[in-house]
Amino acid sequence: MAFEPKAPTIDIDPEQVAPDTFVIHSVQKAVGVPLFVQLNSLVIKGREPIIIDTGTRANRTKWLSDVFSLVEPEDVRWIFVSHEDSDHVGNLEQVMTACPNATLVCDWAVMERFSNFFEFPVERCRWVEHGESFDIGDRTLRVHRPPIFDSPSTHGIFDTSTGVYWAVDAFATGIPDANMDLHDLNYDDWAEGMGFGAFDGVSAWLPQVDPKKFNAAIDTIANLKASCITSAHSPVLRDTLIDRAFARLRELPFIEAPLPPGQSVLDDIIAAAAAAPE
Ligand SMILES: [Fe+2]
Ligand SMILES: [Fe+2]
Repeated sequence: MAFEPKAPTIDIDPEQVAPDTFVIHSVQKAVGVPLFVQLNSLVIKGREPIIIDTGTRANRTKWLSDVFSLVEPEDVRWIFVSHEDSDHVGNLEQVMTACPNATLVCDWAVMERFSNFFEFPVERCRWVEHGESFDIGDRTLRVHRPPIFDSPSTHGIFDTSTGVYWAVDAFATGIPDANMDLHDLNYDDWAEGMGFGAFDGVSAWLPQVDPKKFNAAIDTIANLKASCITSAHSPVLRDTLIDRAFARLRELPFIEAPLPPGQSVLDDIIAAAAAAPE
């Protein structure tokens, strides 16, 4: 059956977070909990513009319109895919077609895991690994895996010219209002949301980690001293929120795993769907 999104995403315009750097926002209602989830991506409009992750299929029209309001398709020189989850590759085929001058930056694992679904034009691809850099004309982007992730292929990106870090799925949190800034969220709710996002959205393996090794992975990213952290699933983190977010990450191996919504919640969803007018 063809996929037709029933819950349209909520329109929020792109947000400039640094010179030439824009978060493409997409927000949708969370399933079974009274929260909203962001599904963001990033555009850097430098000398050789780059699109970092490609949004969701459900938000295709708005996502393509937002991205190409910032950069002409033929000017896009790079498309970076952090990993192969549907909320990061939702419009990959569309941008690869629309942007004939773009090179697709990914790695072996993305291609290996996703080639059952997408025919990679290998002559247009480039592989990068953790710790490597690539140049996009007026800046160097370094590849650093975020401390928590939900695919082994996950690669984050650090822009050495602006200090903006793309954290992919790390720092995920639900928000009670689709337009909410993290500064408007009280700390306890944010901390709880990050715990839920980490366990049930990103990294259910957290209780198994060696805290010393986990802290070392966090240190690698914290020591970048990012000016701003952008995440696919959180409003932008700036200022004191960055240190607080890293501190919260360090607690996660020790917290009790939150329970995800169970069958009773699904029963409610089914009942609500049955009662809704056609
Ligand atoms: Fe993911
Ligand atoms: Fe994601």
